[in-house]
Amino acid sequence: MSSQNYLHLGSLHSVDAFQRHLREHNIAIPCDAELGGGSGSPLAQPLMLNGIKIGNRFAIHPMEGWDGTRDGRPTDLTFRRWRNFGRSGAKLIWGGEAVAVLHEGRANPNQLLINEDTRSDLARLREVLIDEHRRATGSADGLLIGLQLTHSGRYSQPNVKGRPEPSILYRHPFLDKRLGLSADYPLLADGEIRGIIEAFHRSARIAREVGYDFVDVKHCHGYLGHEFLSAHTREGDYGGGFANRTRFLREVVEGIRSIAPGLEISVRLSAFDTVPFRPDPERSTPGKPGPGVPEPFADSLPYRWGFGANPENPIELDLTDSKQFLSLLRELGIRLVNISAGSPYYNPHVQRPTLFPPSDGYLPPEDPLVGVARQMDAARLLKGQFPDLLIVGTAYTYLQDFLPNVAQAAVREGWVDCVGLGRMVLAYPELPLQVLEGRALDRKRLCRTFSDCTTAPRNGLPSGCYPLDPHYKKSEIAAQLSEIKNRHRKKTMEA
Ligand SMILES: Cc1cc2nc3c(=O)[nH]c(=O)nc-3n(C[C@H](O)[C@H](O)[C@H](O)COP(=O)(O)O)c2cc1C
Ligand code: SF4
Repeated sequence: MSSQNYLHLGSLHSVDAFQRHLREHNIAIPCDAELGGGSGSPLAQPLMLNGIKIGNRFAIHPMEGWDGTRDGRPTDLTFRRWRNFGRSGAKLIWGGEAVAVLHEGRANPNQLLINEDTRSDLARLREVLIDEHRRATGSADGLLIGLQLTHSGRYSQPNVKGRPEPSILYRHPFLDKRLGLSADYPLLADGEIRGIIEAFHRSARIAREVGYDFVDVKHCHGYLGHEFLSAHTREGDYGGGFANRTRFLREVVEGIRSIAPGLEISVRLSAFDTVPFRPDPERSTPGKPGPGVPEPFADSLPYRWGFGANPENPIELDLTDSKQFLSLLRELGIRLVNISAGSPYYNPHVQRPTLFPPSDGYLPPEDPLVGVARQMDAARLLKGQFPDLLIVGTAYTYLQDFLPNVAQAAVREGWVDCVGLGRMVLAYPELPLQVLEGRALDRKRLCRTFSDCTTAPRNGLPSGCYPLDPHYKKSEIAAQLSEIKNRHRKKTMEA
């Protein structure tokens, strides 16, 4: 896929040129001209969370690797990734990766599971991360580690790669068709939902017993927790008004507080959304998907299937929902909030700004920097309104060479408390530590958003940074991935 005419950030050779580019294109992203490495850097300042110290302002976002065993245990690849998370020097590990609370809620047959059989494996994952962190940085002081708990809901695929087994809360005018769901496909019953909530409680207890500092109750990216928030059209206890749409969260939190007292709880939230996007049929040719366009939504107004989308114009974000949700988090005593957006399944340019989209994606409908700015601005507005919450920002990887300058400015100006990193850490795990130590970055190791880490799992392979991580580069699975990409290209060209 081509990357259209958007500027490749790797072609800019100075912060000054980057700042000029932002100004000329009216993109509001703060960027410090100079980096202050060392203990005086804004990124090196500790934070306090209910009496617990978080040693610096870098967080690592959760990232699954599709590389667990069939019974939900980590493999060597999983341990390797968690070691890399530890080596990053970031003091806030936001969940490691999404771990399913029930087999039927796994997003793929290789997703990690949390239960009595896997508890010692999950304990070991945490330990190797801490050991590596200590080895790389000299101390595990101020290191806070959570585990992200999930049920994949609409995107469950527990048994066979490529065979979705969705658990849905309501009928969606666009997403049901994409999954081939008939009009009478069963919805999760309220009783089944209560069973899932109990699985979150049991999982949180295990997480606490094996030493995790917090659990993240995932509410993002189209998975079950997120789908509850937009269940306007659902009847019964878990749909309709705000109180019902957040009943799942409240019941999960209430049970965790009683079964695992003292365990901190966080929420990762898709704070805004849009209608699903698809490649523009007018501008797609065989083998070459065009830029993304929204599904035609004129007949679906007001749009009642979104959270954080303007119902009258659902390609426009509206933070009213998120503000109400963050007020609820505050009432529930939850201070740790990670602001994400959209879904990698139906609007990847919103969730994961990218120049080179994954094999099932579309060309960027906008300069990916606009996507970065959108997520940063939402986090800024929410932080401004909820200064007592500890807010982690998302979508910094696309900034590439200028990530440290933007991260420093965002923290210094109070847009966020911590800067979260996803893909960049798959490509270049040592980046946060090198920034904190004031060292120059190795430009050859920067993630350039080639999307292989998303393309691989979409095609049944483990995720990882195939182009840059020496472990994947030139490996047998890298050869398989390039064969799959070639086959895919050929097939679509013949179609
Ligand atoms: C391979 C891969 C796996 C991911 N897995 C998860 C996950 O398990 N849980 C989650 O909340 N987000 C997941 N994400 C999303 C990232 O946490 C992050 O939001 C996204 O990559 C954007 O941040 P970035 O621009 O720094 O990469 C995943 C992303 C990638 C690339
Ligand atoms: S495969 Fe590597 S370079 Fe490509 S987006 Fe993922 S982390 Fe970045």
